[in-house]
This record gives sequence, C-alpha cells and structure tokens, in this order.
Amino acid sequence: MGRWGLFVTLEGIEGSGKSTLGTRLIQALRDQGLPVTATREPGGTPAAEAIREALLHPDLSWDPWAETLAMLAARRENVVRVILPALRDGHVVVCDRFMDSTYAYQGFGRGLPLRVLARYHRFVLMGVRPHLTLLVDLPVEDAFRRLQRSHDRFEQETRAFHERVRQGYLRLARRAKKRFVVLDGRKSPDELLQEALPIVLERYRLRRGKRKRP
Ligand code: TMP
Repeated sequence: MGRWGLFVTLEGIEGSGKSTLGTRLIQALRDQGLPVTATREPGGTPAAEAIREALLHPDLSWDPWAETLAMLAARRENVVRVILPALRDGHVVVCDRFMDSTYAYQGFGRGLPLRVLARYHRFVLMGVRPHLTLLVDLPVEDAFRRLQRSHDRFEQETRAFHERVRQGYLRLARRAKKRFVVLDGRKSPDELLQEALPIVLERYRLRRGKRKRP
C-alpha cells in the first residue's frame, strides 16, 4: 500500500492573507523535516499556469461556465500531475486554493448551482479531497484596503461579489466542520502561523497513523 500524505488547502478572499500564511506554513513544515509539496490554483503545472494567465487577465472576458470549466481543467492537471503523486509519496501537500474556491467564486459569487459544480468535481478529482482546509476569513472592507494596487480580473469585481464569496466560504465551512478551520485574517501573520501549524502537524500525525488512501 502507498504511503498516503496529508492534503491541506488554503482558502479566503483576495487580501485575506492566505498566501502569506501558506508561504510561512510551508517553510515551518519543512523546518520540522516534513516532506512538503507546495502548489496553487489555478496553476501548479505549466499547462495549468497558462490557463491561469488567461483566467486572470484583466482584459479578457469569460462566460461563467467557460470560466468554471477552465478552472476545472487546470485543477485536473494539478490533481493528476502534482497532488496525487505527492500524496502517494506521503507528502504534506499545501495547495493555495482548491475546489472550495470554485464553490465560493463560481457558485456563490457568480450564482452557478453548487449541485452541478459538485457533480463536475466528482469526475475531476478522482477521489482526491482535502483533509484539512484553512479558511482565512476577513471582512471585505479590510481586504480591499490591503489590495490597493493589484488588478487582476477577479480583483476588479465589485464589493458585493466579494461579499457573496466571503459569505459563501463561511457557509461551506459550517457545512463541513470537520474539514474546515476558520482563522481570523485580522490577526498578525505570526499569530496565524502559530494557530495553523499545530493543527496541520496533528492532522499529519493522525494520517500517518492511519496510512490509507485519501
Ligand atoms: P489568487 O490565487 O492570486 O488569489 O488568484 C486566483 C483568483 O482566481 C482568485 O481571484 C480566485 C479565482 N478562482 C476562482 O474564481 N475559482 C477557482 O476555482 C480558483 C482556484 C480561483
């Protein structure tokens, strides 16, 4: 039997501090001697990074379903080529955004039915689901203040859109209490790491005890 690792995803609206937490978490896990694979979405492989460029390009416009399918195409690449092999090798996989971004942005943000998004995911993910999702929650107002100069296609969306995304994330977290840990994005990067690191280490220890397929 393979040595199955731990799959951790980071979620939150832009400006929440999730990527900063991710960078620090990855470093802290490596400092502890754990095998870590870091990836992000959309992205993670050359083809998926090319899709990312088109998806985030501020001058392009996308039909909501086309946008969703492109996100899923990039996700499939990342799952097959990066996440699954790393989990098989027993790694902690830290992914900056994953399926909950699609539920939050395309589902709650754009209004597409979650039921259909879930059906697509059953095909795309091949059973690979996050074991732990760290949601960095921050009021949209604070996030907008932090994001003064960046303007990708999603950052250009209205405040109301981002509010729907934030509330969507919180609903997803309430629905999957065992998987989600909600962190307060108003805390300092040090405080966020101090909260997140022991949780990840504990889940990793438990997974290694079980050694089963994700
Ligand atoms: P970020 O990784 O720099 O936050 O940017 C990725 C953007 O893509 C972000 O605005 C959220 C958006 N996104 C979706 O709308 N759906 C998805 O499934 C993913 C992974 C990202």
